Parts: sequence; structure tokens; C-alpha cells
Amino acid sequence: MGCSIQKSGSLRQEIAVQMLDNRNKRLYSEWEEHWKGSDKLANLTLVGHLIFRAKKKALADLVARLPVRRVLEAGCGLGRILQVYHEMGLDARGVDLSPHAVAACKNKNLEAEVGAIEEEQGSYDLVSSDGMLEHFLNFEAVARHLMRVSRRYVLLIQPNHGSFCGKTLSYLTDLIRSDKRVFEYNYRIQDFVEVFNLNGFVLQQSKPILGDTFRILLFERVR
Ligand SMILES: C[S@@+](CC[C@H](N)C(=O)[O-])C[C@H]1O[C@@H](n2cnc3c(N)ncnc32)[C@H](O)[C@@H]1O
Repeated sequence: MGCSIQKSGSLRQEIAVQMLDNRNKRLYSEWEEHWKGSDKLANLTLVGHLIFRAKKKALADLVARLPVRRVLEAGCGLGRILQVYHEMGLDARGVDLSPHAVAACKNKNLEAEVGAIEEEQGSYDLVSSDGMLEHFLNFEAVARHLMRVSRRYVLLIQPNHGSFCGKTLSYLTDLIRSDKRVFEYNYRIQDFVEVFNLNGFVLQQSKPILGDTFRILLFERVR
């Protein structure tokens, strides 16, 4: 009796893992589809341009003060953020599971490889990720891999769904461009902070960007 309860418990767990796996596989092929039109997506809209300019400035100001040299941009996409690190003279490398995205990075002479963060084997002073975690149903599983390959810092750029501007932008984007958007969950900034704390990283900086539409979160390893 006890044994069959145990068996059905572990079967349920296996099914849950399998479902999550399938969900991630679907998400990964969605990203590849998304970047297939990357030539068109390379040109930012006016709002996209404003957002990127603000992100770039805030990021460069913050990272310039950190004692870091080797940087990994996880989910580097078309390489916009990777390019910022490159221009700062850092030893920066990108990884993305979309071959189309990586090809776009290589066209810009950026160092990037096709791969999943889950399989990354390197070790970095700073592991950075912009707009990746909010697309996962279970973002902690992926966040743990960012932490695993970081010797010291993890930096996230996350939409802030808790702010007025963040909520408004998300609503308008859904309304106007829902067909071009990869679905994202509306995690709170505090959700990221709690998950990193639980895994031995503490928040060092939380920097609002463009009316708090986005936040740069800098975590440091404490154990
Ligand atoms: C919003 S885009 C990032 C855009 C990028 N920051 C830029 O500057 O162009 C998120 C990226 O994460 C990638 N991605 C999603 N899950 C991943 C994973 N597990 N490992 C590596 N890359 C992943 C997607 O393919 C996508 O290109």
C-alpha cells in the first residue's frame, strides 16, 4: 500500500517534469520562429529605441563600477546588450538557443554560440540576462543555471509589471503587437529577489529604467 502511494507520487512528479520539459521545448521553438524574421526585427520601433537607449546607459554606468572582466550574456538574442559589453572592452560572450539570433550576433562580430544556459560549462565574473526569465513558467529552474555559472554577480534586466509604466507598456504591447510577442508571465520584481536570496545571492542594486518600466537587478553571491 505504502509502496503504491510512493510509486504514484513519483509518477506524478515524472509527469510534471515531462510537462514542464515539453513546455520549454515549445517556448524554445517559439523563440527560433520569432528570430527567423530577425532582419526585420533588427530595426527598433521608436519606443523600442527609447527603451534600448535607456537600458544601455543605465547598464554601462552600473557595470563600469564592477570589478568584472569575463561576462556571459545568457539569451543574447540579436546581441544588443552583448554589444554594450563589447563596446565597454569586456571579455563578453553570448549564448542563445536560437541559431538565427546567434547568426545575427556573429554578423556584428560578437562572440556568441548556440546553446542553452542549462548546458553552459564556463565560469564568469558576471552573468547577465535581459528579458529571458519572464517567459518561463518555472523561472527558478533557469535562474539557478545563471547562478551556477557565475563566480560573483548575476545581472537581470526585467520588465517591472508592478509599476504604472511597466503595466501600461505591457498592456499596449499586447494590444498592438500580440502576434509578434513571445508570451511572458507578469512576475513581480520581488519574485526574482526571493528566488535569488533562496539560492545564495543577495540584491546589491535595483535600478529603475525609463519611468520604472524596467529594472536592472544586480545580485552578488554570498555563499
Ligand atoms: C528577449 S530575448 C533577449 C534579447 C537580447 N537581450 C538582446 O539584447 O537582443 C530572450 C532570448 O533568450 C533566449 N533563450 C530563452 N531561453 C533560453 C535558454 N534556456 N538558454 C539560452 N537562451 C535562451 C531566446 O532564444 C531569446 O533570444
